[in-house]
Amino acid sequence: MEALDNRIQDYIQKRKDDRLYRTLTLSQDLIDFSSNDYLGLSRSAFISQQVENDMRNYRFRKSGSTGSRLLNGNSLLFEEVEQLLAEAHHSEAALIFNSGFDANVGLISTVARTGDIIFYDEFVHASIHQGMRLSGAKLIPFLHNDPDDLENKLKSITGYNAGFLITESVFSMEGDKARLQEIAKLAFRYHLHLIIDEAHATGLFGEKGSGLCNEAGIEIDCFARVYTFGKAVGSHGGVIVGSESLKRYLVNFSKNFIYSTALETHNLLRVKHTYFMLQMDINQPYRLKKLNQYFITQAKLLKERFPVVGDGPIFGIIMPGIEQSVNMSIVLQHHHFDVRAILSPTVPAGTERLRIILHSYNTTEEIDQLIKIIVDNH
Ligand SMILES: Cc1ncc(COP(=O)(O)O)c(C=O)c1O
Repeated sequence: MEALDNRIQDYIQKRKDDRLYRTLTLSQDLIDFSSNDYLGLSRSAFISQQVENDMRNYRFRKSGSTGSRLLNGNSLLFEEVEQLLAEAHHSEAALIFNSGFDANVGLISTVARTGDIIFYDEFVHASIHQGMRLSGAKLIPFLHNDPDDLENKLKSITGYNAGFLITESVFSMEGDKARLQEIAKLAFRYHLHLIIDEAHATGLFGEKGSGLCNEAGIEIDCFARVYTFGKAVGSHGGVIVGSESLKRYLVNFSKNFIYSTALETHNLLRVKHTYFMLQMDINQPYRLKKLNQYFITQAKLLKERFPVVGDGPIFGIIMPGIEQSVNMSIVLQHHHFDVRAILSPTVPAGTERLRIILHSYNTTEEIDQLIKIIVDNH
């Protein structure tokens, strides 16, 4: 019998041999082209102050959580924030999960089951894969952002119970936007339940940051949408929005929801005040959109040497291999730029890349320097 410890060591060694070994690092005080804090809201002194005021004024009985929502973890605050989220995302109901990962797993594994079918974009996030695997449904990937390939597959496959169609709206690694209107039309034509992961669109696109489904006018076509608080919202957690009956169903059957301690008060207050800020519509993403345009123009210098993917604020600069991706990220870090190499299996082997994330607090000078360093060191 194989000893478990040997197996673990073998796996670790293989990762090292493949140059794909991951370690935990501490973020240094570098120029941020890497975090998901697109709008800098995690650093907002105004939001922190509002949270502290609420903590003081309302004298919350507890700041910790104390249990699952179905036991002691629920509160009026939870219900207030869910109401706010449902309104902000133009939906009948909202249900908060402890993370975006949890929301995807808890949703997909609970609504789909054996005998069902799920069509999904080949580049969806690991949490969607996890949920799909647990569901027991038949899984059919379609080529990334290719509604024609999707339609060919839809035409050729029949004989299932419920059908689902799942995509991200802004892709976390490619940085491009899903062709949501075409996707929604196909979902309608083939009677599929449309699920959209809006993690990287939350706070950035659509009216008052309500998402790309809003911008594309397809909110109403979705069975469920997932928004996350760990990216532009600058906090932690996630929410599923959909019908009241979907919410009731998940409260009763989603294991990720039922058997996990609820978010704590501070976290909820942070989400609440950030959404208040988004509702005030002080046009936070405006500066970021200008920087996106600037990067796209300047990236022409890079494109002569490397393929560049993404519409912003996520961009990928595809490197010729693992070694080059890692080395370039180290060079950039030596120049005080926080840029990470993204390796397989997070992206398909052979498409290892530098992932550049723009933030409203980056400057055009920083973008110029970043591009120059990459060009000079390739
Ligand atoms: C597309 C997508 N969905 C879901 C998640 C998971 O969200 P969270 O970080 O809140 O767990 C991520 C996080 O990287 C993501 O990129």
